[in-house]
Amino acid sequence: MQVFNTVGAMQNWCIEKKKQGLTIGLVPTMGYLHAGHLALVHAAGQQCDIVVVSIFVNPTQFGEGEDFEDYPRDIERDQLTLESARVDAIFAPSPGEMYANVYNTWLEVQGEITAKLCGASRPGHFRGVTTVVGKLFNICQPDKAFFGQKDAQQVMIIEKMVQEMNFPLSIVRVPIVREADGLAMSSRNVYLNEEQRQQALVLSRSLQKASQSIKQGERNVARLKSEIRQMIEQSPQAKIDYAQIYSAHDLSDVEEIQGPVLIALAVKFGTTRLIDNLVVEV
Ligand code: PAJ
Repeated sequence: MQVFNTVGAMQNWCIEKKKQGLTIGLVPTMGYLHAGHLALVHAAGQQCDIVVVSIFVNPTQFGEGEDFEDYPRDIERDQLTLESARVDAIFAPSPGEMYANVYNTWLEVQGEITAKLCGASRPGHFRGVTTVVGKLFNICQPDKAFFGQKDAQQVMIIEKMVQEMNFPLSIVRVPIVREADGLAMSSRNVYLNEEQRQQALVLSRSLQKASQSIKQGERNVARLKSEIRQMIEQSPQAKIDYAQIYSAHDLSDVEEIQGPVLIALAVKFGTTRLIDNLVVEV
């Protein structure tokens, strides 16, 4: 397994592999890897000849007062983890390598898809995500790039960007990997104390409950959202950022459920903000 820290070296290596006729699968991450990330790596290994994993805590997607400085990092452990997975190269640049002192080029998807949910709570977040992901596509030239359904809005936005900017690659979505008790895996789960960790189960449980109600015939979105809110509010430490239901195609508003919907939650426990979601088809 090779480790690259510069854009030039990573790009040259990828160009060489492509010349040899090999397909490249890219897994973009911010590191502090867990089984959710490894599911993406595994899918890339199954579908591509070469697997490249990027590890970069991207400063431009963190807002003022967010956890960029505190975001958990352990590059040595990540490297060991990826050695034992089937990974060919790691790309781990510094912030200065990706963004020059004066940096002025941004990729931004506009409209409803970026304005809602995390786009509303974290202004500028998705512009940072699409910019860094666009740069990673140009550097690594993947045939396929792998993203988790854990960040449902993120993968929708990236699919839109790929389609509208004509990036010559396809996006593969990988289902959410959960702990045995249902908590969606996340690098941020390490911030939770024991009590918060227990209360955080309300996210997956309220999603399951809403899904059950839909299966039993409930179609009214307002009623479903209030059922979810009531359930989350029973956890004393939980502060709801959003609990929404939108069309799973394009995040457009729905009043009555028909076709696939995305139930999306963002809830804070202390200073830790967790997200989770479920797509329900009727
Ligand atoms: P990060 O949070 O490290 O996640 C990297 C990838 O792993 C994302 O595609 C995310 O959806 C996926 N992932 C995280 N937890 C998962 C889980 N429990 N199950 C399945 N997939 C999971 O998302 C980012 O980094 C960044 O925004 C990035 C795309 C790398 C751009 O900086």
